Amino acid sequence: MSTAPPAGARAVTDPMAGYLETHPDLKYVFFGGKGGVGKTVMAGATAVWTAEKGRRTLLASTNPVHSLSGLLGQNVFGKHTPVNGVANLFAYEIDTKDTIERSKREIREKIQWFLKFAEISTKADEFVESATMNPAFEESAMFENMIDLMFRNEYDVYVFDTAPTANARRLLGMSKVYSLWVNKMMKSREEAQSLREMLSFTKKKEQDPLMDYLVEFRGRMEHARELLTDDKKTAFFFVTLPEALPIAVITRFINWFSEFGIPVGGVLVNMRIDRSVVTPESAAFVRNRLAMQDEHMQTIWEKFDSQVRAIVPLFEDEVRGSEMLRRLAREVFSPAEAASRNAG
Ligand SMILES: Nc1ncnc2c1ncn2[C@@H]1O[C@H](COP(=O)(O)OP(=O)(O)O)[C@@H](O)[C@H]1O
Ligand SMILES: [Mg+2]
Repeated sequence: MSTAPPAGARAVTDPMAGYLETHPDLKYVFFGGKGGVGKTVMAGATAVWTAEKGRRTLLASTNPVHSLSGLLGQNVFGKHTPVNGVANLFAYEIDTKDTIERSKREIREKIQWFLKFAEISTKADEFVESATMNPAFEESAMFENMIDLMFRNEYDVYVFDTAPTANARRLLGMSKVYSLWVNKMMKSREEAQSLREMLSFTKKKEQDPLMDYLVEFRGRMEHARELLTDDKKTAFFFVTLPEALPIAVITRFINWFSEFGIPVGGVLVNMRIDRSVVTPESAAFVRNRLAMQDEHMQTIWEKFDSQVRAIVPLFEDEVRGSEMLRRLAREVFSPAEAASRNAG
């Protein structure tokens, strides 16, 4: 047998703890990756860690399907809820139905106003339906929720369960187009407005909610873009398993994100089998699985190298409740401490 360390035994060179030290203003933290790889548990562990370091933290979910209440073992739906047993930590599952209804109402008002302004005698309903039946509508509403939370700025740290990957990418890709479009819209609105004022007898300046909306919308998009591309404040972490498909998924995400200038914080490898407990007598499926993981770890090192921030072991049980989250947090942020506890 060779005396070289096994492929899987290579150590992380730039761990999570170092990333936090070099990014003391980190405020918006996101996790992306394939379903089931551990995004929700990583978000939970990160939030527990920052909260226990004394930073007022919000763990938030904007997904239509929530899992934070299950993760924490307490109901955090619909309002900012203090997490039992963890100081400085709040959790919040956003009521997506509510947001969608509100967005529909707002869109209806804008369309009604516009139809009236343009003296078109069609009912707004058809327009509202066609705008809100779009599958991207729900996703956009979730994105709006997320940036609302970010803008409100009531916490030191925001940890989001599941990155709005497609949306963030689309937003940034589209932001230039948006800007051009909104500027053009505004210019023609201004022209129409001054024409109306010239023609009107009263010379009274008219309210223009559509214009106000466009100006506000442009401002919000610009602000969101600034925050999401600020690598001091924002980081997207990508979670993978030492398996082919999850690796392919994050490879694609990381490429997209780098292209759009969204800060990639690094890669977290989850559910690594602890080789120290695998012996020649272990069940074949365990030995084979470890060998398979070793191979995929090679790929991970080749592709991501110093972007790997942590290698987290597969626990004997699923991750639920604050104690398990603390344990996971130690594995992610302080593996030396985790190892000494495990030995003790
Ligand atoms: N390191 C781990 N050891 C054991 N179970 C884990 C580990 N990481 C995650 N899990 C479990 O795997 C399942 C999927 O994790 P989850 O965070 O919900 O994934 P995602 O949010 O990416 O879909 C959950 O039951 C979780 O408790
Ligand atoms: Mg999840």
